[in-house]
Amino acid sequence: MTLPRALALARLPTPVLPAPRLSDALGVEVWVKRDDLTGLGLSGNKVRKLDFLLADAVDRGCDCVLTTGGLQSNHARATAVACRQLGLEPFLLLRGAIPDVADSNLLLDHLLGATLRTCTTEGYRQRDAMLQAWAEELRAEGRTPCVIPEGGSCGLGSLGYVRAAAELAHQEAPAFDGIVCAVGSGGTLAGLARGGLDAPVHGVAVCDDRATFAARVRTISAEIDAIAPGTPPLGEEGRAWSVVEGYQGAGYGLAGPEVWDTLQLAARTEGLLLDPVYTAKALHALRTEARAGRWRGRWLFWHTGGAFGLFGRGAELARP
Ligand SMILES: Cc1ncc(COP(=O)(O)O)c(C=O)c1O
Repeated sequence: MTLPRALALARLPTPVLPAPRLSDALGVEVWVKRDDLTGLGLSGNKVRKLDFLLADAVDRGCDCVLTTGGLQSNHARATAVACRQLGLEPFLLLRGAIPDVADSNLLLDHLLGATLRTCTTEGYRQRDAMLQAWAEELRAEGRTPCVIPEGGSCGLGSLGYVRAAAELAHQEAPAFDGIVCAVGSGGTLAGLARGGLDAPVHGVAVCDDRATFAARVRTISAEIDAIAPGTPPLGEEGRAWSVVEGYQGAGYGLAGPEVWDTLQLAARTEGLLLDPVYTAKALHALRTEARAGRWRGRWLFWHTGGAFGLFGRGAELARP
């Protein structure tokens, strides 16, 4: 397998640790891959993708980076932090309206001095075109922009998770019956699915549906073929990898009381901090599927970070 050059923004390897008390609570043996520990400002799964995406930006002589996401996008925040670490300027197209008082990831975007533009949910459908138009404006000003798609989810970004799979294979950990992670734009699942892992990878959709994300995985996988020859093939959907539906709740970013309960369980059993948008939904899927007896044995919960998404949501947390 030949991978393109990557930076070393993420603190790797991230630990893979047993979670004995969470295992007792869930009734299956749970281990956790701690990608929430890739850094502080640079925490979570996006950093592994940015290692490849920003190496490419630097190699092409770019001086600024444009990307997009929701108002509280972890990817947008991580991109802004990484840009500042590399001396690049971040430009973020965010879906939603900027409030007078910002918190969580948006607070950090402000702190980092990212240039922000916003769009409506409707307008967000044209995000790729909007990013290209913005990049064109910057070129006209003499800048050299790099455009990164939503979530860093393209072939190049997903190589971060092809590499993560190889990292796991070299770590001291037992064999797993399944691996579970959250899916928001498909890049993490696509990379893991191309990583040649022995265990099936189950991506829990936090929005949209199975068909949408399965198609994303296939598209990204085809992009991987073009840039990283020798990468293990994409296995069969439903056996080697799958998109798990039914845990989206009322939609992106919206978490019901059952998701908050799981989030609290992880904190109280293991001191593990999840977020209500991605990781708590994924762990809730594991909890529910285990309770139903559909998922058995030993499971790896791939913690993809997102802790900043917890802040500003205190009103939803049930008090002890
Ligand atoms: C914390 C967190 N976990 C999981 C995901 C999902 O990863 P992906 O976008 O690669 O599907 C995201 C981003 O969307 C995220 O921010």
